[in-house]
Amino acid sequence: MRRRKCYQFIVIVCVLMYVYYFFGVSDYMYTKSFDTEFHYPLDVNIQPLISKVLNNKKPAQPPINVYPYKFLTNSIKCMTLDRLDLFIVVKSAMGNFDNRNGIRQTYGQEKLIMGKIVRILFFVGIDDEVKSPLQKRIDEEMAIFKDIIQMDFHDSYYNNTIKTMMSFRWLFDHCSNAANYLFTDDDMYVSVRNLLKYVDYEAPENRIVMHGSKRDRDSVMLHHEGQKIIFAGYVFNSSPQRFRSSKWHVSLEEYPWNKWPPYVTAGAFVVSNRVMKIMYAGSLFVKHFRFDDIYLGILAKKIGLEPTHCSKFYFYKKKYSVEGYRDVIASHGYDDSQELYRVWSEQYSL
Ligand SMILES: *[C@@H]1O[C@H](CO)[C@@H](O)[C@H](O)[C@H]1NC(C)=O
Repeated sequence: MRRRKCYQFIVIVCVLMYVYYFFGVSDYMYTKSFDTEFHYPLDVNIQPLISKVLNNKKPAQPPINVYPYKFLTNSIKCMTLDRLDLFIVVKSAMGNFDNRNGIRQTYGQEKLIMGKIVRILFFVGIDDEVKSPLQKRIDEEMAIFKDIIQMDFHDSYYNNTIKTMMSFRWLFDHCSNAANYLFTDDDMYVSVRNLLKYVDYEAPENRIVMHGSKRDRDSVMLHHEGQKIIFAGYVFNSSPQRFRSSKWHVSLEEYPWNKWPPYVTAGAFVVSNRVMKIMYAGSLFVKHFRFDDIYLGILAKKIGLEPTHCSKFYFYKKKYSVEGYRDVIASHGYDDSQELYRVWSEQYSL
């Protein structure tokens, strides 16, 4: 009898310890309040720093977050145009040749849509070997289409923030004249027409909340007359995953607060010209975080910019029907380029 109790006791203790560890119970107990305690390096008002960078002046402190990578290819697509209404950044994985071809034949066709000029480029990293078979195929693809910007960091999921922020840098340096920028993954359905309608007619007025004292605010110019502030997509308000086995598990050391800032899921989001520049300049003063959508959420919070939720962006795959897709701007789940082509052609011809 005694033995049995002892045995039960041990089993219960083991189960509890397992639950405690596996479900990250301790992590939940020790999280800090996002609403009252959130701060993130640099722990200063970054607005004056951004303002200086955008005015080509020296900021009061040097940047803390400059990615040490290079562009291996370039494009003059944006420079040769007087006007550019929409520029599409496709974050693509090296091996996704088929996805890229599908996009070129569908929403990535650079033709006038509602009288608007649209351009597109694919952004990829590299693999570990120098002249791998994969790299040779990319070289061939680039020679034909000249629409790939390759950067010299390892192409992988956890390097997505690097891919996104290097794309921002490229836009800032080589494509700063587009009215709006769409960032999208290479497995999304996109309706350029619906997106153009959204940015031109539907996106609500947004403002940047200015921080600091009155004197600071007066000297900081983030808004520009007549330039829209748009940062929109599918907005999440959620909490970090503390389950140890999750792909998205985050330790307290990495992020100690109980909530994420509001963030736009990275599968597809749109920023206006002014916001692209402000975000790029701001990123120089905001510490790296490995999830790109969270990083942009943190960055937006530090900037004083609230992301706008738009229910026409689907972070999951919206089930297809002709009517159901009439207003869709973007939907996840289009890995199959044939399917993308079918859906896109049907909607396009409406
Ligand atoms: C990200 O890229 C860097 C530079 O190529 C590389 O050293 C690092 O291992 C990559 N990280 C991941 C998670 O792949």
